[in-house]
Amino acid sequence: MNTLTVALPGREYDILIERGLLAQAGERLRAVLPRARKLAVVTDTTVGPLYYNRVKAGLESAGFECRLFAVPAGEDSKNPSQLAALWEGFMDFGLTRTDGVVALGGGVVGDLAGFAAATILRGVAFVQIPTTLLAQVDSSVGGKVAVDLAHGKNLAGAFYQPRLVLMDPDALDTLPLPVFMAGMAEVVKYGCIWDGGFFDFLAARPSRQALMADIEHILYTCCDIKRQVVMEDELDTGLRMILNFGHTLGHAYELAGRYIEWSHGEAVAAGMCAAARLGVKLGVTPAGTPEAIENALSALGLPIAIPCSREDRAAAIGLDKKSAGADITLILLDKTGHAVPRKLPRKDLLELLEETL
Ligand code: NAD
Ligand code: GLY
Repeated sequence: MNTLTVALPGREYDILIERGLLAQAGERLRAVLPRARKLAVVTDTTVGPLYYNRVKAGLESAGFECRLFAVPAGEDSKNPSQLAALWEGFMDFGLTRTDGVVALGGGVVGDLAGFAAATILRGVAFVQIPTTLLAQVDSSVGGKVAVDLAHGKNLAGAFYQPRLVLMDPDALDTLPLPVFMAGMAEVVKYGCIWDGGFFDFLAARPSRQALMADIEHILYTCCDIKRQVVMEDELDTGLRMILNFGHTLGHAYELAGRYIEWSHGEAVAAGMCAAARLGVKLGVTPAGTPEAIENALSALGLPIAIPCSREDRAAAIGLDKKSAGADITLILLDKTGHAVPRKLPRKDLLELLEETL
């Protein structure tokens, strides 16, 4: 068993990583929720049929009464109506403050169920069982929970840490290839921003098969980096911003594809390449770095450039919003394995992008 501890004052929790862990959910949850009687298990319509019965059998044998709450698979479920439906469903189930909510699924389910857990009865215990690569390396750790609003993604949310994160790499076997590779964009990001040796390790494994052979090490390394960042800056006012490497341009690309053509991971992949090229132009990033990142990502079938209009770039940079301050903090690399924030006027960034990309 690989165990990492997120040591936040008064809210310490473990991340457990092991093949076959889904079947041990009962005993693992009982250890952190000794008094809970009922568990609301939130999942989606794809993950439920694949994994709910396995998890439920373990939870019931550990004495929990479970009820399934399955939302339609996909980002559209991360909305206030689904949140309200969960609140009412939890009350119908008779959930009390000593009971708990379990998220079984990808980042959509984790963010939605986590916000429901944070807000029902002013907060009940929450456990993450992430089943996508993105959720395992990123969204299940660190306590950001949210739903989307008509005005944009993740606009209503909270910081609400789970009591336990239970990660079974075997669950990744059923992921469609593009969903697996979208998660790999975030994995490569950790190598770019924190650990050059890890970047090289990933670059030497350019296939799903090769990556899955070392998946426990990969999950452990990513979660260890995220854990350290979150312990230093839980509320995202400083260091945690480095996790946004590739995301500013990534948002522009998601917008350019109207959130249909490019997944978040694909957009982040191209966004990291753009940020690396921009870093070279600004004299922060060493020459050759963009090419190394592009090679690693394109070997995984991820895009390294995405067409995008000036208007979409301006919107992603916040130039379309009167409320946005004059400056933007961009995350750049001063070497592969180390990120640095660089503040620059939004208008200058837009012009630089025109010249660079
Ligand atoms: P997702 O939850 O929509 O999952 C992607 C698809 O894979 C879905 O269709 C899902 O049903 C399916 N799926 C999940 N697990 C599966 C499995 N084991 N086998 C087969 N299919 C499976 O998307 P995601 O990429 O996991 O997460 C994206 C969401 O995460 C976004 O809403 C994003 O905002 C959020 N996010 C949150 C944080 C955070 O810190 N909270 C960080 C990054 C992303
Ligand atoms: N996914 C970025 C963060 O957790 O801060």
